[in-house]
Order: sequence, then structure tokens, then C-alpha cells
Amino acid sequence: MKYQIHKAVVIGAGTMGASIAAHLANAGVPVTLLDIPSKDGDKNKIVINGWEACLKAKPANLMSAELKTFVKLGNLEDDFGAVAEADWICEAIIENLKIKQDLMARIDEVRKPNAIVSTNTSGIPVHAIAEGRSKEFKKHFLGMHFFNPPRYLKLLEIIPTADTSKEVVEFISHFGEYRLGKGIVLCKDTPNFIGNRVAFGTGAFGLDFIIKNGYTVDEVDSITGPLMGRPKTATFRLIDLVGIDVWDHVGRNLAPLIPHDKLGQEYLKAEAPNKLISTLIERKWLGNKTKVGFYKEVRNAEGKKEFWSLDLNTLEHTP
Ligand SMILES: NC(=O)c1ccc[n+]([C@@H]2O[C@H](COP(=O)([O-])OP(=O)(O)OC[C@H]3O[C@@H](n4cnc5c(N)ncnc54)[C@H](O)[C@@H]3O)[C@@H](O)[C@H]2O)c1
Repeated sequence: MKYQIHKAVVIGAGTMGASIAAHLANAGVPVTLLDIPSKDGDKNKIVINGWEACLKAKPANLMSAELKTFVKLGNLEDDFGAVAEADWICEAIIENLKIKQDLMARIDEVRKPNAIVSTNTSGIPVHAIAEGRSKEFKKHFLGMHFFNPPRYLKLLEIIPTADTSKEVVEFISHFGEYRLGKGIVLCKDTPNFIGNRVAFGTGAFGLDFIIKNGYTVDEVDSITGPLMGRPKTATFRLIDLVGIDVWDHVGRNLAPLIPHDKLGQEYLKAEAPNKLISTLIERKWLGNKTKVGFYKEVRNAEGKKEFWSLDLNTLEHTP
């Protein structure tokens, strides 16, 4: 068979990369998880911290604890050799075009023939990430957009470019559906694809509306969760789960790509929500990954975990 996945590499051990690696382990695929080397102490500190956070997350990313033996950890300096041996290289690093392009240039130099390369970008045009790469690379490159958390969310958007080979799309869609248990939606390479184009339009409108009308975080999450037939993460819990920095990157990347969408522009550029999000990022209140965002994890007097919500006026967390 021309294509097969016996070994995978996932690059980026943050919220998504670590949990995609865990889901590959669930499917019995040996995987090497790589991240940038730490500048101080153990060079693998960043990847170790990302993987440990993934192992502690609830609901569990691994189907059983012993599956972690399928996952090896490394850094992009000492362990890049794993990329040369992989059948599938799944990029899940920071949402920044230039950084993704630079990484793809390194992958292009070492990938073996027929190795498939994917990006987990939330909405950067997939063809732009492959700009400047070899013909063979482009033939084997596509977007594979997992949703958070990948073990549980069924949707997997597959985004070929004009250069992606049809065989690669067919093979990886089959792998995603039958090996990883995902529901495949084939998308065009349009800004933010499908799920996030809808989510970021409504999300930007929602944040502006909430602030203008003085709703609280608790009120909004009580209304916009299961009461409306939506998941428990509702609105603000979802932004905390995604990561407030990631939310910001995706919105900022989207705005220049949709100049024709007047309403989209109005809400993506609305002053109050952007100011709020920027302040949270300055304070490193990035959501679940820093344990503080629109909710803050605290221990009460009895040592029990509580979640305090952010007062959108005072920017203090209250019980
Ligand atoms: N968070 C979500 O819910 C979600 C969902 C779907 C897709 N995505 C996309 O997945 C990708 C990763 O998102 P995330 O939420 O895991 O982000 P994250 O911030 O949790 O992790 C990003 C990782 O990138 C690494 N990184 C930073 N600079 C780097 C560099 N120069 N080279 C290589 N690695 C670098 C970081 O060390 C970190 O581990 C992004 O493209 C994002 O848009 C995120």
C-alpha cells in the first residue's frame, strides 16, 4: 500500500498537540511528541509540562493509563530525526503563519517520500502555510483540523489545497474516520474553514453584545449551555478551554481575510471585547492552561476546588 501510518510525529505539546498525540496512542499508533527546547534546565521541559497537563486533564485524553507507552517525548533541536522516520507529521504549534512556514521548511528537508504532513491551524489559509515548499511536499500537505478535546469531539475538518493529491485526501480521511473514530467534513481552504468561521462570527458578536448589555459571565454561561442545546462549556468556559491567546490569534488572523464581510469586521474589531481580551493576555490569564481566565480555579477553606468567575467590570474573580 502506498500510504500507511506506522509512526507519527506531533509537533506542539500545547492544548491540542498533546491531546492529539494521546488520541493517536488510543488508536495504537506510536507517536513522538515534540516541542521547542527549553532555554533553561531540562531541554524537554516544555514538552514534559505539556504532556503532563494532558495526562491530568478531565475528561481523560487517554483511554487507559498504560497507553502512554505509545508516546515518546522530545524537542525540536535534538529529536528532529523522528520527523524523517514518520509516516504522518501533524503540526499543532502556535497560530502564527511565519512560525508555521519556517517549521514546514525544516520538515520539507527531511520528510521521507509519501510522508503526509498536516496543519491543525484554526483558520490560517492552508496553502499559505505551504508557500515556498517543494512540489512533493505540497502534494502530501493538507489541513487536518481537530476540535478540542480531540478524543471526544467527533468533527475532523479535512482541508486539501489545490496541490494536495486526491489519494492523500482519501487515505487520511479513511484513517481519520476508521482508525481515529472521527466524522470527516471536507472543507474548502477558505478563511477559518467551516466550524470556526461560524464560531468566530457568532463569538465576536456575542462578546460585544454581552459587554454592551452588562451581562455577567455566570448569566451568559447559564443561558448559552445545555439550556440552549449546547455543550456545558457554553460561552466563557469554551473560550477558557480553547485558550484566550488562541482565541485572540484566530480572530486577528480572520479579520484581514474577510474584508467583504462588513458585520464580521464590525464585531471582530469591536473595541470593548478586544480591550478585555488584550488585558487578560497581558495578565497571562489564558484560561484552563494557566488555571485563570474567565474562571479562576481556587481552593476554599476546606481545600476543595472552586471556580470563581470574572467580573467583567472590575476584572476581579468572585465566588
Ligand atoms: N485550542 C484549541 O481549542 C484549538 C482547537 C483547534 C485548533 N487549534 C489550533 O491548534 C494549534 C495549536 O493550538 P493550541 O491551543 O494547542 O496552542 P497552545 O498555545 O496550547 O500550544 C502551542 C504550542 O506551540 C509551541 N510553540 C510556540 N512557539 C513555537 C515555535 N516557534 N516553534 C514550534 N513550536 C512553538 C508552544 O511551546 C506550545 O506548546 C494552533 O494552530 C491553533 O489555532 C487550537
